[in-house]
Amino acid sequence: MTSLRSKITGTGMYVPAGVVTNHDLAKRMDTSDEWIQQRSGIVERRHVDGTETPTDLAEHAARRAIEAAGVGADELDAIILATLSPEAEFPGTSFFLHHRLGVPEIPCFDLRAQCSGFLYSLACADGFIRSGTMRRILVVGAEVHSTGLEFSTRGRDTAVLFGDGAGAIVVEANGDGDDRSGLLAIRLHAQGEHARRLWIEAPGSGIHPTRITHELIDEGRHFPRMEGRMVFKHAVTRMPEVLRETLDAASVKLDDVDLFLFHQANLRINEFVAQSLGIPPEKCPSNIERYGNCSAASIPMLLDEAARSDRLRPGQLVAMTAFGSGFTWATAVARW
Ligand SMILES: CC(C)(COP(=O)(O)OP(=O)(O)OC[C@H]1O[C@@H](n2cnc3c(N)ncnc32)[C@H](O)[C@@H]1OP(=O)(O)O)[C@@H](O)C(=O)NCCC(=O)NCCS
Repeated sequence: MTSLRSKITGTGMYVPAGVVTNHDLAKRMDTSDEWIQQRSGIVERRHVDGTETPTDLAEHAARRAIEAAGVGADELDAIILATLSPEAEFPGTSFFLHHRLGVPEIPCFDLRAQCSGFLYSLACADGFIRSGTMRRILVVGAEVHSTGLEFSTRGRDTAVLFGDGAGAIVVEANGDGDDRSGLLAIRLHAQGEHARRLWIEAPGSGIHPTRITHELIDEGRHFPRMEGRMVFKHAVTRMPEVLRETLDAASVKLDDVDLFLFHQANLRINEFVAQSLGIPPEKCPSNIERYGNCSAASIPMLLDEAARSDRLRPGQLVAMTAFGSGFTWATAVARW
């Protein structure tokens, strides 16, 4: 292994213009602004307007990240795109993005690790870079949830939580011995026995001969189903666990971390995690109140907001932690 280290050199994000408030949702199902805010912290989220696709969102975020990195799309060595709401059944959204960006014949692929997908993708990019195989990789998280949610009382438990958005980063090899910035440690976990506790069953090639039937649609099995309390319970246990594990691997003390970027699934989960570890709230920015849960896009969106404001400055330590369907969970620790 060489002494190469991965460094995030550019960030970008994009959300569609359409704002959907809790009050808007309350007109379509039996819910209320008070219920949603109390349970999740969400006030509003963005939805595509019926013409925008995941590739559109991903392209805007990617172009911003590439510009911020000061490179050209033709200088990328690969594209990794994390999503649970792909443009088509196949190929992955990354291929449509590949065409849009007009990149040379570099490899690209979609990675499916749901709300931990961005950190899983970052780990892949880190592996390619540290092995010396590649020097510059575009990592994107992009989701269009709104076209796959059930906006009725039956689907209210998930319909109120998710939003559309995309976030992107450029990861480059940092071979400069004097520059201490870059990824210090990353740890990934999964527990597949809980795969059905937060999932979309159909269409799928696993159990239904025709993948989708009228019956499945009538039963709403093409919409997400979630055991909310179970997800909550696991998230508040696993997130502190993997955060500690990764800080240990990076030889970093919890108190030395300047910024904690938690996956934006539920403000209550993140408050619980921060409290249990004694992390002051001012070190945990959030955007869930504006964007809801954007799954694989949530962390890169939050990172972009922090990087473009005064929240994250060169030399500071940032820890990013996710939990999601699978179940999956992960943390990355980096010096900015
Ligand atoms: C979803 C979540 C907010 C629900 O909160 P909760 O306090 O656990 O609520 P419950 O699921 O027990 O539901 C309580 C009641 O509210 C109802 N309810 C569910 N969604 C509702 C909504 N949008 N509006 C109003 N009532 C709702 C339920 O039907 C239930 O009614 P009942 O008591 O008559 O059966 C919470 O479980 C959670 O955040 N879980 C984690 C979700 C998550 O993070 N998912 C993404 C992971 S990446």
